[in-house]
Amino acid sequence: MGQQKKLKAYLKTKMPLWMLDFLYRNKLLLSYGPKYKKSVFSEIYRTNHWGDPESRSGAGSTISYTAALRDDLPKVLKEIKAKSLLDAPCGDFNWMKEARLDLKEYIGADIVSEIIAENQRKYGNENRRFLVLDITEDNLPQVDVIFCRDVFIHLSFSDVFRALAKFKESKSKYLIASTSPIIQENINVITGSMHNLNLELPPFNLPKPIRLIDDRQKGFIERWMGLWKIEDIKL
Ligand SMILES: C[S@@+](CC[C@H](N)C(=O)[O-])C[C@H]1O[C@@H](n2cnc3c(N)ncnc32)[C@H](O)[C@@H]1O
Repeated sequence: MGQQKKLKAYLKTKMPLWMLDFLYRNKLLLSYGPKYKKSVFSEIYRTNHWGDPESRSGAGSTISYTAALRDDLPKVLKEIKAKSLLDAPCGDFNWMKEARLDLKEYIGADIVSEIIAENQRKYGNENRRFLVLDITEDNLPQVDVIFCRDVFIHLSFSDVFRALAKFKESKSKYLIASTSPIIQENINVITGSMHNLNLELPPFNLPKPIRLIDDRQKGFIERWMGLWKIEDIKL
């Protein structure tokens, strides 16, 4: 392989987060295209960037953090008679493997192919499969519920809008997504970094959720998961 090709291949897969950040902030990289998003989150996964010893999806994805959520979620899914669920993104499936959900079909999706291969090997079965999908770019399967936890906080506003548009295009019925009603103003960040969001505030202006599912934990900013009918979300 020529030197230039080698360098390009290296940058695509191995560029550290700080370097992407630097290029973006200095306008040498104007936006994150699909390849960059993949490489940012692959790098986060590879280096355990969020630094939790139990879950590479971060401290919010541990068994103890999700106790209230694991209690509440099955009740809500029962109430809305959900039988199929797209968990997008599923991350490393660390806490979800402990959830007792009465579903005919569970699909876990993530942008990082290594996570998906590992999940499929460890947890795949006839009712549960894992797919490599970029929720901001790819067509998504039609399901009763799209469950979208802790990813909008890592996406730029425009990527959040792209994902919401993909959710609508999928013709799925409900969305359950992370939101922090305590946040007074949403701040745009580059994809790969982090800021908590209140989905009811600009620029998203989602309607009041039908219901809030408890996703709080001591020592963390107050977060909930809102339930919406996807047809009620106007973009
Ligand atoms: C903080 S983790 C949360 C995972 C999971 N929802 C949970 O509660 O444990 C965020 C995940 O989003 C994935 N991700 C980021 N951007 C994505 C995208 N555009 N499409 C699909 N997955 C994405 C990352 O790879 C990472 O696994």
